[in-house]
Formats: sequence, C-alpha cells, structure tokens
Amino acid sequence: MKAIIKSGRKPGVECVEIPRPAPKADEVLIEVKATAICGTDIHYWKWNDSAEAFANQYNVQFPFVLGHECAGIVTEIGAEVEGIAVGDHVAFETHIYCGRCYQCRTGNAHNCQNLAIYGTSCDGCFAEYATAPASVCFKLPDTVSFEEGALYEPGGVAMHAVQRADLRPGDTVLVFGCGAIGQMVTQIMLASGAGRVIAVDIDDYKVGMAREYGAIGVNSAKEDLGEVVKRYTAERGGVDVIVEVTGAPSVYETLFDYLRPEGHVVTVAHPGKPIPINVTRSINTKGATLRGVFGRRIWDTWYAFSGLVENKKIDLSKVITHRFPLSMCTEAFEQTGKGAGKILFIPELDK
Ligand SMILES: NC(=O)c1ccc[n+]([C@@H]2O[C@H](COP(=O)([O-])OP(=O)(O)OC[C@H]3O[C@@H](n4cnc5c(N)ncnc54)[C@H](O)[C@@H]3O)[C@@H](O)[C@H]2O)c1
Ligand SMILES: [Zn+2]
Ligand SMILES: [Zn+2]
Repeated sequence: MKAIIKSGRKPGVECVEIPRPAPKADEVLIEVKATAICGTDIHYWKWNDSAEAFANQYNVQFPFVLGHECAGIVTEIGAEVEGIAVGDHVAFETHIYCGRCYQCRTGNAHNCQNLAIYGTSCDGCFAEYATAPASVCFKLPDTVSFEEGALYEPGGVAMHAVQRADLRPGDTVLVFGCGAIGQMVTQIMLASGAGRVIAVDIDDYKVGMAREYGAIGVNSAKEDLGEVVKRYTAERGGVDVIVEVTGAPSVYETLFDYLRPEGHVVTVAHPGKPIPINVTRSINTKGATLRGVFGRRIWDTWYAFSGLVENKKIDLSKVITHRFPLSMCTEAFEQTGKGAGKILFIPELDK
C-alpha cells in the first residue's frame, strides 16, 4: 500500500510502498478515506526545533508513517476488540492513553501520564490502511462524511477551547488567528451563543474566510485592532473571552490589553519558546482567568463537537480547501505555505 513516511531527522516526506499492517489483538485496521495535514505534520515536514522536541518527547522511531487526523472504514478487528465491528465508520483520537494512571482514572485521559501520540509514537494514517488501538476509535454517525470525520480531531481542539472559555450568551470573543483551528473556534463560538466574534489574522485570505462564517474580520497588520475592540466593547472595558490560536510570540505583547477585567483567556497555540508576561498588570489586577488546552476531553469533547456537525450548526466543508492523492505529498505540504485551510489526502485519488 502507499504511505507517506518520515525516514529520519531531516526535511521532507516520501510516499513509498509498504506492506499493509495487520491489527494486534487490541487494534482495528481501517481503510483510510480522508486524512488531514496538521501543524505537527508541517513541523515534521520542515523538521524544525518543534519537530525535534515533540518527536523526542513522544518516543519517535524512524521510519514512521505520518498523520493522525483521519476517518475511514473498519476492515478488520483484533481478537480482543469489543464494541467496534467491521464496516463501522471511525475517526481516531491522537492521544493514546493508558487507562490506569491518576489522570485517566479521574476523567482527564487526554492528559494521561503515560501518553503516546498517534502518528509519532507509532505509525499514523497518511496511508491507504492504518491500524490503531480500539480504545482511541470514535464511531462516526452515518450522516457525517469521511471528510468531516477527518476534521473531528482538530475540530475537537477548537471545541475544547470553547469548553474551557466559560462563554456566556452574548459575549464578545476575540479569536486570535484564523488558521484551521481558529476558523473552527470562530464557528463553534458563534454556534454556542457568542454575541460576536472578532477574528484576527495577518493574512487577508484567512480574514476573508472568517468573515464568511459571520465574524468581524480584522487584519491586524493593516488595521488598528485596539480601535476595533474599543468600538464594540468600550462599556465593559474589553472582550469577554480571548482564544489564542496564532502561536506568534509577539501577540502576547498586547493580548491581555484587549481583555476586559475578569475576562477569560484560552491558549491553544504553542509559541515554541517561553514568553514574558506582566503578571501584575495582565493577570492579577485584571483578575484574568488563563487556561491552556491540550487535545480533546475523551470523549466529552468528541460528542459535543459531533453534535454541532451532525446538526449542521457548523460547516466543516468551508474549512477544507485542498485535496491531494498520497503520491502528491510534496505538493500538498508545499501548499500549506501558499494559503490554505485544511488540506486532505484522499487515498482513493491515487487509484
Ligand atoms: N493545544 C493543542 O492541543 C493543540 C492541538 C493542535 C494544534 N495546536 C496549535 O494550534 C495552533 C494553530 O493551529 P492551526 O492548525 O490553526 O495553525 P495555522 O498555522 O493554520 O494557523 C495559525 C494562524 O495564525 C496566523 N498568524 C500568525 N502570526 C500572527 C500574528 N502575529 N497575528 C495574527 N495572526 C497571526 C497565521 O496567518 C495563521 O492563519 C498551532 O500553534 C498548533 O501547533 C495546539
Ligand atoms: Zn492534529
Ligand atoms: Zn493514563
């Protein structure tokens, strides 16, 4: 079968022929129908410091099959698998949890102490077929397409950010960054009762996409974001909620200035280095609540996100902008730097 692999600590990816994997006793085998490129995969393609750090933290072994966001049909199950059958449509949770540690036993399996990462600690899903532990399978409803299913994992990150924001009906939300996750945060915020979303990026293409979802789009490289925030929130002294999804360290120089006293900040993006924050001014005297997000709550976030997708409260089709066969992996990764929403590999396009 065709698979996109990373063969070592160097830039680039390769599409190669490898044997179709067989599921172990606790695993399923799926025929991959759609699989999406994530920021982590882009780091691996470039092989930068983030790639090195993440790969080392989660025990990478070369060569490995890239990819972790996917949906497909179960074609085989291991001897010990229960509750999942051949023919089921599934998506995979990337955080492979142990089920035994304190976090797993207290409802926080996404932050398991013995976490392995799908598509890093083991082979992933940029391939015609992929195996995964049955414990990380989420059964997709019949009404959800494979392309939508491939976006459940990154969409779940956006959903988790909204779940941690303590949103109240009518709130004004500032979404910093209109990449794929920011776009989904914007849609989920509006579907969850936000009064308005101010969506910010430095890329006109991305700002335009956010406007399509009904956000007030701002290109912060061209417009004065402080003025826009003041225009809508002067009375309450800033926005109620900020979600940081750019990962740009410079954003933190002014981020908290847009927040009203007693507001909430959720950080999703990884800036890649430590950032100085004025704790007195930005956190303490502001009474700010600051929360981080890592992955998705298993399975609470998945069901919540699916509820929005199934009932057409959000539109994932707009987030997907490109589709490639596995064999065009280099072109697909190059497209990530040229303006794109989510980019999918559709293995059927190789046939
Ligand atoms: N916490 C988690 O569990 C988790 C999970 C998945 C991804 N992430 C992280 O979330 C972040 C977003 O992911 P994504 O796939 O949407 O990435 P992305 O690269 O598609 O989006 C980032 C966006 O930020 C914009 N941007 C960059 N600098 C900016 C600036 N100074 N001001 C305004 N906008 C700016 C870019 O133009 C881009 O549109 C990444 O850092 C990723 O690593 C975190
Ligand atoms: Zn991902
Ligand atoms: Zn655990």
